[in-house]
Amino acid sequence: MHSLTNSQIRVRASGKRATSPLGCGTGVPSERFPLELLPTSSVRWYRMAVPTNSTVQVSEKLAAASIQDRDAMNSASPLAGPPESPSVSDPAHHIRELVTGYRRAKVTALAVDLGIADALKDGPLHVDELAVRCQTHPSATGRLLESLLEVGLVTRTGDNYSLTPAGELLRCDVPGSLSRWTTMSAGMQYAAWEGSAHAIRTGLPAFDAVFETSFWQHLASRPDAAADFDAAMADSVTESCELITQDPALRGATVVADIGGGNGKLASTMLDTHPHLSVLVVDLPGVVERAARALTRFGERARVEGADFLTRVPTGGDTYVLCRVLSDWDDTHAAILLDNCRAAMREGDALLVVGGLRRPGQPAARGLLDLHLLMIIGGRERTEAETADLLASAGFRLDRVEHSLSERTSLVAATAV
Ligand SMILES: C[S@@+](CC[C@H](N)C(=O)[O-])C[C@H]1O[C@@H](n2cnc3c(N)ncnc32)[C@H](O)[C@@H]1O
Repeated sequence: MHSLTNSQIRVRASGKRATSPLGCGTGVPSERFPLELLPTSSVRWYRMAVPTNSTVQVSEKLAAASIQDRDAMNSASPLAGPPESPSVSDPAHHIRELVTGYRRAKVTALAVDLGIADALKDGPLHVDELAVRCQTHPSATGRLLESLLEVGLVTRTGDNYSLTPAGELLRCDVPGSLSRWTTMSAGMQYAAWEGSAHAIRTGLPAFDAVFETSFWQHLASRPDAAADFDAAMADSVTESCELITQDPALRGATVVADIGGGNGKLASTMLDTHPHLSVLVVDLPGVVERAARALTRFGERARVEGADFLTRVPTGGDTYVLCRVLSDWDDTHAAILLDNCRAAMREGDALLVVGGLRRPGQPAARGLLDLHLLMIIGGRERTEAETADLLASAGFRLDRVEHSLSERTSLVAATAV
């Protein structure tokens, strides 16, 4: 076994923006990237034991979910016990499916990047017309469409194709759109995984080996990629927003400090949902400029502050939120971040940590997400016990833990002590 050198695993890191005749965010380069966060629209709260003997109120909010979503969530219910490993009746077929999974990822991204999903927004189109609108080769376009048919993203009537409900989510102009997330996931993020063997051998991020810079430094030097990353994060934050906005801590809060708040999507959701709240969004200087623009309609209820949270976390909040931030960091940096939060907070202030909680065995896919965090940013998921230790070292008491029904995200509520 030999380690790959950087030059062996380097891939092209800067892409030319492929301008689409359709506009509206189509034709973005494939070398864009997000972190892996799967959105769902529904959250169910359920009763569970927590370390401090408190319990979590049971309620359900399933109204926005499709039947399929509900079925998927029910099968992942925490009340149903740990899921079993998928049964494999044909091992060779199973391996082939696993290894050729990249084809599904890539055709899905092509439907976004070439503007196919957006071109189909007004209804069925003949393959030739689609090729004209997307400036693609007619025969090759037909073959791509047959692949999209195979993976359930389009349907065909004669030579006319239209989007399935899943395919609709690849349009850039629909609520819950996953177009930017798809482009980034199947673009730069995919490319970073080229360095995955290196990451496993060294414990260091694959991204850094492939792109010869860290993920965050890369974003800092590429404003277009950074804006796309923010947007993809915002596209995938819905479930976390629901966990936070429904949390009892927000009812007693006055000023929420959203640390690593990105382009302000969570902040605007909190401000819309809780008219009594003000929000301070803290993020890197270039990022909070975008948040400031997005939050202007809230006037003085919304403030932003640029800061490196590994150096300093601003004071001024009575409730601090780390949404999908703590798991971006290894233990050393996570401890620094928590120390800085604690230094900014007063005794009794609340801290909500969303995402990154690992529940061994539930669901099986969490192992892939944890590994993905290593690949892209050197982060990691943590068990409840690991999180409690980290919090305690920084001067917090873990009060309660809640999970969304899908188990894809979680909320740890802590108090500064
Ligand atoms: C995974 S994103 C989460 C964004 C948002 N909270 C959400 O859930 O959609 C992590 C955020 O941390 C910010 N960030 C990374 N390093 C930072 C640092 N040193 N100081 C401040 N913010 C940082 C990034 O710019 C990004 O907005």
